[in-house]
Formats: sequence, structure tokens, C-alpha cells
Amino acid sequence: MILGIETSCDETAAAVVGEDGVVHSSVVASQADLHARYGGVVPEIASRRHLELVSPVVRAALDDADAGLDDVGRVGVTQGPGLVGALLVGLSAAKAIAWARGLPLVPVDHLRGHVATLYLEPDPLDPPFTCLLASGGHTLVLAVRDHTGFEVLGSTLDDAAGEAFDKGARLLGLGYPGGAEIDRLAREGSPEAYSFPVARVPGLDLSFSGLKTALLYAVRELSEAELDARRADLAASYQRAIVRALVGRLEAAADATGDGVVAVVGGVAANSELRSALPGARFAPLSLCTDNAAMIASAARFAPELRSPGYLALDAYASSSL
Ligand code: KG4
Ligand code: ZN
Repeated sequence: MILGIETSCDETAAAVVGEDGVVHSSVVASQADLHARYGGVVPEIASRRHLELVSPVVRAALDDADAGLDDVGRVGVTQGPGLVGALLVGLSAAKAIAWARGLPLVPVDHLRGHVATLYLEPDPLDPPFTCLLASGGHTLVLAVRDHTGFEVLGSTLDDAAGEAFDKGARLLGLGYPGGAEIDRLAREGSPEAYSFPVARVPGLDLSFSGLKTALLYAVRELSEAELDARRADLAASYQRAIVRALVGRLEAAADATGDGVVAVVGGVAANSELRSALPGARFAPLSLCTDNAAMIASAARFAPELRSPGYLALDAYASSSL
């Protein structure tokens, strides 16, 4: 079995996944409450919390799987992209476990991890397919040709879709992280109430910064009481604009690749309007849309492993090299 470890942002996660793709356990300790008062993730606080949580979370993942380290054949860990201080905690833990147990270590790219959610049992998807990866840090349109990687067809020129949700939620006075809050509130509002612009950029790229500014201007015009009355309408209209942009790009990409199958992964894949706007698409299971370690263990199945002492000098990276 593969022990997966993920600490790229504000979730400390560990999972046990079989080489066959069966998820035996997936434990995610969210730090969201710790960062909520700052309205976003504070990197230094995240690193310190990962340090406290990583051992108990790994132990919980093994316990949940009814497994011990004797059952683990490889350790898969997120190497990047993400917060370097946060990544280093998971990477160091993985190196220590691998070294102590004489196991190979598989460094995993977080974005490949999100895509590899789709390769897990009980309903694995086989490439080729066209994939939208929409998270808090990235928004990419991908042509996935095999299990080991992908070609980037388009990406956001500014904010990621999840970031647009989070910043929008902040403007509306909602909690952090904002995606799920907007999703919930939008159900009580009218998506037609406001007409927010969906940026038109060339090719298959996306842009969300203009949309965020449009929401800012709309909110500024309202008094406190008016904002209370219109908050749900604003949330619904704002969400509609993001979903339209994502759906439009994914459909255009699928036309370009000719792939019959489209898929959506990443935290924003949890969005209920996006899910119903793409009834034919494959979505990551709800529990595995936001960051988790089962996806990292899944990607490790298809990535090259390193043996001791080769992995000991491995460093984390902040930005994607893909
Ligand atoms: O994949 P993820 O956990 O972390 C990154 O790799 O960035 O994605 C987190 C993002 C956050 O921006 C969060 O607001 C968004 O996913 N998100 C949602 C929903 N649930 C989480 N966005 C829209 N609707 C949701 N239901
Ligand atoms: Zn992620």
C-alpha cells in the first residue's frame, strides 16, 4: 500500500491507498478555523500547525486503514506547488518514514494529484479526457493523455477560480474559505439579479480579476442594510459568472481536443452549480475535491519512485514547473 502525505496549504492530510487504487483511509485535518480570523492562510501559522498535526494524522490514516507501517510499500508526498514552509513539513515527515523503514519515496506534484483523484476506485476514469482543474491556487484546462501527466491548454491570467470565490466572499462579508459559503448562500438568491461580466480573453485562458472588481463596485453602492438584503442575489450572480466562464472554457477545450470525456477536479469542483451545469462531466467525488492525501497517493502510483539516499536532498517548490 501507499502512504500519502499532503501539507501544501492549510490542510494536513494523510491517506492509505492500495496500488490498485482502493482508498483504505483518507484523513484531513483542516486548519481553516485557525486562519479564518485573518481572512486567508497565514503561511507561518500553517507550517507550525502542520508540525503539530502531521504525526497524529499519519497515525490516524494508518489506524483507519487497519494498517501499520509494515503494510506500507511506498511513501508518496506532495513536493509542490504550495507554501514552501508547509510543504517542507510533509516532505520531511515522508523522508523520515521512508528512511526509517527502508521504503522508496515518490515526490508528487500537487496538480497531478488533483487529476489523479479520477484514477481512484471504485470508478476510475482512464485517459484520454479533457480536464478542468479549478482550485484555490490554480485554474487550468488540461488535455490528459495518460496517467503520468497532462498538457496545459489554458490557464487563468490572474486569479484562480477558487481565489475569485474566496475574494468575492470576503467582499460580501462571508467567512473563509468562501467558495462553500457562496455556494450555500447563492441557493437563496437570483443569478439574474446582477449581470457580472465574464472576461473574454483569447484562446483557452481565463481571467477573474475584472469580475472581482465588478462585485466590489456593486457592493460599494449599497448601504449596510441594502447589502444585507441583496447579499444572496450578489452571491448567486457572482457564482453564475464564474461557472459560466469555467463551463465555456471546458467545452471549448473539449471541442479542440475532440475528447468525448470531460472531467472536473480541485476544490471548486465541489460547487453545486458547476456540478449541475455539466451533467455529462466526470467530477471528483465531493469528499476528494478539496485537498487530501488520497489523491497524492493515487498520483504516486504513476510517478517514478526514489530510493535512499536519493530522496534525502529533495526540496519543496513553490510554483508549478508543469
Ligand atoms: O483544491 P483546494 O482544496 O486547494 C488548492 O489546491 O488551492 O481548493 C480550495 C478552493 C478554495 O478557494 C475554496 O473556496 C474552493 O476551493 N471551494 C469551493 C467550494 N468548496 C471549496 N468553491 C466553490 N464552491 C464550493 N462548494
Ligand atoms: Zn489543491
